[in-house]
Amino acid sequence: MRKIIKNGTIVTAADIYNADILIENGVISQIGQHLSTDGSEMIDAEGHYIFPGGVDPHTHLEMPFGGTVTKDDFETGTIAAAFGGTTSIIDFCLTNKGEPLKDAIDTWHAKAKGKAVIDYGFHLMIGEVNDTVLSELPSVIEEEGISSFKVFMAYKNVLQADDETLFQTLVAAKELGALVMVHAENGDVIDYLVKKALKEGNIDPIFHAFTRPAEIEGEATGRAATFTGLSNSQIYIVHVTCEEAVRQIAEARNNGVDIWGETCPQYLVLDQTYLERENFEGAKYVWSPPLREKRHQDILWNALKTGQLHTIGSDQCSFDFNGQKDLGKDDFSKIPNGGPHIEDRLSILFSEGVTKGRLSLNQFVDITSTRAAKLFGLYPQKGTIAVGVDADIVIFDPNSERIISAESHQMAVDYSAYEGMKVTGEPVSVLSRGEFVVRDKKFVGKLGSGQYLKRAKYNISNESEDKTYTI
Ligand code: URP
Ligand code: ZN
Ligand code: ZN
Repeated sequence: MRKIIKNGTIVTAADIYNADILIENGVISQIGQHLSTDGSEMIDAEGHYIFPGGVDPHTHLEMPFGGTVTKDDFETGTIAAAFGGTTSIIDFCLTNKGEPLKDAIDTWHAKAKGKAVIDYGFHLMIGEVNDTVLSELPSVIEEEGISSFKVFMAYKNVLQADDETLFQTLVAAKELGALVMVHAENGDVIDYLVKKALKEGNIDPIFHAFTRPAEIEGEATGRAATFTGLSNSQIYIVHVTCEEAVRQIAEARNNGVDIWGETCPQYLVLDQTYLERENFEGAKYVWSPPLREKRHQDILWNALKTGQLHTIGSDQCSFDFNGQKDLGKDDFSKIPNGGPHIEDRLSILFSEGVTKGRLSLNQFVDITSTRAAKLFGLYPQKGTIAVGVDADIVIFDPNSERIISAESHQMAVDYSAYEGMKVTGEPVSVLSRGEFVVRDKKFVGKLGSGQYLKRAKYNISNESEDKTYTI
């Protein structure tokens, strides 16, 4: 059935205007003033913003990690995402050395099938590069539509790849048209610091932060940027947390390196003191890179505002406090790394960013939706409101206030990292390809309705951006 959204204020990364939106067959078929409602279901959005559905480029759903599996899967994770205003996610498909890449991708398809309620794509982890891997990569891009590769510079003996692998991945990505994503921390130095801390009897969650200092995130970011420049390739630094890394990205961009940066809501509003919470509560905030000293938050906000950082990923990687985080009760290095953020990504950015005057409305849309869609080959099908594109739409009440709590959240995980935080602004209704997934804050979607997104090759470069940055 045709739907028409009336009386709302449409906000894209470029414009703010009042118009009606007609939706037919899952796509936006008309945008205009006083469109006829004949034969259409009328949705009144008076007093609300109409945003393009959020694009979350960084999730880990049902992922084996840290001796367990992330609590939220493609069912609870995508339902939570939809409540939070996200209509597309790109999840990380892990690979095992020696295993055909196709098998890893099939494993990830099986996780999502019949569960996802919003559209989803995959990034592919690269842990080794050899002739077999190189022969498989073209079909990963052309047939699977996976145009982004993830390399971990940390998690020694688990996910970490060496510098040769990173460099080879960058070279291959350049040739094939993929964007390389890196977790930038120096895993070797972390490994040394962790062993030393444990030897000295330091077992509490705060030592997770002390053994992963900002300097080594800056060092790895700089190394990745250098390799990118040298290979004339393209790179996206995931979950940037600190001044040291922002500086490296800004400097590389000034030098013409095609480098992009993502931060996450947790680094914008939480800080290292959370890891000091008593009764092992600090474990709730153990993820990597770690939360930093508060002074880094202003630097991250400023970097988003001035275009040194470009997107917000949730890095959704949830583990229960009881039964999962407590694997590290007597040894902080055994606490599964990750936290629950998929649901509150837009609310936190709107409340702390837009309502506090740190970001414009257009920047909010760009950072939560449009830029990720462009970088990861989904634009304009996703990431904007325009005639002919998927009707992925968020009807957002900018004045509603709520307190974030595990009591009311949709995620399956047993705690909220933002418990008690008051946020202004929330999605009221969310449509995926023209169908309501959330209507008046209630779930009305269908399990399995989410479609797999085959993505286009990487095709933007930092050359079109203003490249003179200071912090
Ligand atoms: O601690 C985190 N961030 N867990 C998820 C894996 C990763 O590093 O992104
Ligand atoms: Zn990471
Ligand atoms: Zn992650």
